Amino acid sequence: MPKLEIEQFLCLSDNYGVLIHDPEAEVTAAIDAPDAKTILAQLEAKGWTLTHLFVTHHHGDHTGGNLALKEATGCTIYGPAAEAERIPGIDVEVTDGDVIRFGDFDVKVIETPGHTIGHIAYWIPDAKVAFVGDTLFALGAGRVFEGTAEVMWRSLQKLMRLPPDTEIYCGHEYTQANARFALTLEPDNLALVNRAKEVDLLRDQGKPTLPTRLDRELETNPFLRPNVTAIRAKLGMLYAPDWHVFAAIRERKNKS
Ligand SMILES: [Fe+2]
Repeated sequence: MPKLEIEQFLCLSDNYGVLIHDPEAEVTAAIDAPDAKTILAQLEAKGWTLTHLFVTHHHGDHTGGNLALKEATGCTIYGPAAEAERIPGIDVEVTDGDVIRFGDFDVKVIETPGHTIGHIAYWIPDAKVAFVGDTLFALGAGRVFEGTAEVMWRSLQKLMRLPPDTEIYCGHEYTQANARFALTLEPDNLALVNRAKEVDLLRDQGKPTLPTRLDRELETNPFLRPNVTAIRAKLGMLYAPDWHVFAAIRERKNKS
């Protein structure tokens, strides 16, 4: 099995930059481009040359570095076809089910609309890793800016069906605030209580709480748990469809 090296680092205030590197094939990709300077410094520190840029969605804190990175490295920029006109420097437009060859790895494109209308995630099954942008966060989920709650819920369900041991890399470090909110919905979920403590400890030490893993999210992330009776009872929605409960959780978090 080929090995994939992964570097995660903070960009801007709370964005994560990620570089992935296949040492055999000598290819390197950035997941999103929050800040070209930081990404170029990381590339130099690792001695890697950027060949690919995988963009999840058009927001400026994910694409602001696109043109500078392309200029500096000549990398090929991949991004969602549905947002192509809003993604600076895009070379290759991808849609759901597309497979991008990256060195010895296949990168699978999963459309996850909701946060933005064309948002995509990149899944590398052989490395057991997925890059989900602003769709799913540790203990949270992205705000629904361009889709509806129902569309967003369908997107999250796609991610929930990935293998449970998939490592999940997200666009932002929002976990501590998410944990506080999650506890208001499920104060008796022991896995969540323990995880919230762990998150506090990591943040106290200035450490990242990401990546996370899908099985942990399924156990503790309220946005993936609208079917759980305790959450439904809390919201007074015992018999509503899952996506209605998801929408209510999203609304509540927006106001928190
Ligand atoms: Fe975003």
